[in-house]
Amino acid sequence: MPILPVPATDHPLVAAFHAAYLAAHRNDDPGPAMSLSHFTTASITGWYERAEAYADVRDGRVTGGYSLRFPTRDNTHVALIDLLVVVPEARRRGLGSALLAHATERATGQGRRVLIAEAESEGPGSAFARARGFTPATTETRQVLDLRAADRDRFAAMLAEAREHAADYELEVWRGDAPEHLYADLALVYMGMNDAPIGDLDMEDSVWDAERVRAAEREQSGSGLTGRQIIARHRATGEVAGYTSIKYYPGTPDGWGRQADTVVLRPHRGRRLGMTLKLANALALLDEQPAMRRLTTWNATSNAHMLAINDLMGFRPLDTWHEWQVSPGNA
Ligand SMILES: CC(C)(COP(=O)(O)OP(=O)(O)OC[C@H]1O[C@@H](n2cnc3c(N)ncnc32)[C@H](O)[C@@H]1OP(=O)(O)O)[C@@H](O)C(=O)NCCC(=O)NCCS
Repeated sequence: MPILPVPATDHPLVAAFHAAYLAAHRNDDPGPAMSLSHFTTASITGWYERAEAYADVRDGRVTGGYSLRFPTRDNTHVALIDLLVVVPEARRRGLGSALLAHATERATGQGRRVLIAEAESEGPGSAFARARGFTPATTETRQVLDLRAADRDRFAAMLAEAREHAADYELEVWRGDAPEHLYADLALVYMGMNDAPIGDLDMEDSVWDAERVRAAEREQSGSGLTGRQIIARHRATGEVAGYTSIKYYPGTPDGWGRQADTVVLRPHRGRRLGMTLKLANALALLDEQPAMRRLTTWNATSNAHMLAINDLMGFRPLDTWHEWQVSPGNA
């Protein structure tokens, strides 16, 4: 099968692969889709890690493809299958399997002994992963908050109440790229995300420093996504205590906001900081981004604290996803 490398440049194959991704997305996924620039950064260039992408090309059209990410600063035993898609009309003819075999060879050839992919639990991706020897390592729920139905007064009252418990903390807000003086603090909160449950995933903690944050900020700018982010700081000591981020396309032309990381560092837990951060950000975006209609968030089904916050805010489940894992040498 003509499986070709997709160059990490402004090449027609990138747009053709994106078109195939969109066709699959429309068929399988009720959530937000990646724009071309987001797709290029996340799946072709590699989202501050090395990536490689390959596509099956017939008559100038991409019928399927995959993207692998190779962590370089931690988890160097892992290759992440960022995407593995076949357009709906070309399915069940072995193309997905051929792409996976190609990806496996690329990954193992570069010393990666674990492959990880994610797929909605009831969809074709999970049936495929199971058939190809993957096992589910962790389960996540994707939830949606309908911002059109959000009650500002209720949000404001909940925020005021949470703020009383978190009065020892001040909030520092920014939009777009983070100011450079926050890189070291951001490295600490990103490391705090290592506390999020990962089930049986064969993964190590991520390692962050200011230099990696700088690279991530550059990637974010290039991806076409922007964000509203908040750091909570302990007033008395100046220590960074928590963080939250909502990402979106400028002007939210797709109507979606994406609740990204939220973390409260260990010494500062139990003071409603998580609730304060998430509510403050969502409430502000109701005014700042009136075209934002829905907000998605992802959490491990075992993450009871975060799910309780989401539930109080009005997030409701959309679907359930598994992270699937395989060690090709042991399959
Ligand atoms: C998953 C996906 C890539 C499979 O592509 P494909 O070309 O249809 O895969 P294959 O033809 O190689 O299927 C191999 C086996 O997987 C299983 N399988 C694949 N799709 C299935 C489905 N819809 N229902 C049940 N089993 C399925 C079958 O056992 C199949 O073998 P069979 O057709 O001989 O029964 C495609 O459905 C897709 O793009 N889905 C959306 C994105 C996604 O979920 N990616 C997977 C990430 S792990």
